[in-house]
Amino acid sequence: MAEFDFDNAPAVRCTALEKRYPDVLAVAGIDLEVRAGECLAVLGPNGAGKTTTVEMIEGLTAPSAGRIEVFGRPWGQGARSDRAIRGVIGVQLQETHFQEKLTIDETLAMFHSFFPVGQSADDVLAMVALEGKRAARVGKLSGGQKQRLALACALIGAPRLLCLDEPTTGLDPQSRRQLWEVVEAFQARGGTVLLTTHYMEEAARLADRVAIMDHGKVIAEDTPDALVASLGADQVIELELEGAPPVGLDALPGVRAVRPHGDAIRLSVGDVARVMPGLLAHLEAVGAPLQNLSTHRATLEDVFVEKTGRALRE
Ligand SMILES: Nc1ncnc2c1ncn2[C@@H]1O[C@H](COP(=O)(O)OP(=O)(O)O)[C@@H](O)[C@H]1O
Ligand SMILES: [Mg+2]
Repeated sequence: MAEFDFDNAPAVRCTALEKRYPDVLAVAGIDLEVRAGECLAVLGPNGAGKTTTVEMIEGLTAPSAGRIEVFGRPWGQGARSDRAIRGVIGVQLQETHFQEKLTIDETLAMFHSFFPVGQSADDVLAMVALEGKRAARVGKLSGGQKQRLALACALIGAPRLLCLDEPTTGLDPQSRRQLWEVVEAFQARGGTVLLTTHYMEEAARLADRVAIMDHGKVIAEDTPDALVASLGADQVIELELEGAPPVGLDALPGVRAVRPHGDAIRLSVGDVARVMPGLLAHLEAVGAPLQNLSTHRATLEDVFVEKTGRALRE
């Protein structure tokens, strides 16, 4: 029976991983590695296959094809081996349904009982800043507190690998930042993090590497900086115009690419100041009145738009 290799193996290695449902190929044959000690974010829109991918890695959903190893140990080598793999993974599902009548203490004790080893409830509650709430009933917690409790439940087994599925969806900005800090502290102590998100800010903030997923495939994978650099354009100019988009924008000096973005048009450019005079003159010449113009530094969102022609959140 294979043993864990915490020193040399990647935390997760998926090879030709596939999940087929009757109507859809949810995960269409992906190769994906989570390196030990890194935070990998799987970024993609709703329906991309993120949840299906992490649930296969967590051992909650069986793959239709392909192979998954966790710290060098493959799933499916018998009940004892699979139980050992479960013991090193902390799981936060996309939605956690707690028993509303239980207290935080009772909830944690229940999750603790699923693991052969673990850390103390005191330590975990301090990590997620819920120390003062031990006796509170789960039903009385705010959305942000519930998400932190879900994270506490994922941490109680002292996992090597923390898997978080859309951990901050629906949270206010302050709760989101609090949760990010817990994840960063876990990683700083040597933990490995695999998270899914459709927020590019979250991927940019937390991830060492990002795998962009769409229609069941990984369409790009690199560090956030390298992904943005791959656009070959530092800045994006967004135009809202009256009427149909004018021709000739892509031929203007300094414009690298032109793409529709909802009702607007996005120009990828190296240097906004150099493009602007020619752009304004062109709009004037073709009689395209400008309703709005804004610029921003290129982001992971722009990488997604470039690869798919769609926005991340549509
Ligand atoms: N249990 C299931 N049965 C059938 N189809 C499913 C099931 N779970 C997910 N799907 C489909 O698989 C695709 C990927 O879903 P999911 O992994 O939840 O995407 P994401 O988490 O990126 O939003 C979607 O088309 C979804 O409808
Ligand atoms: Mg999902």
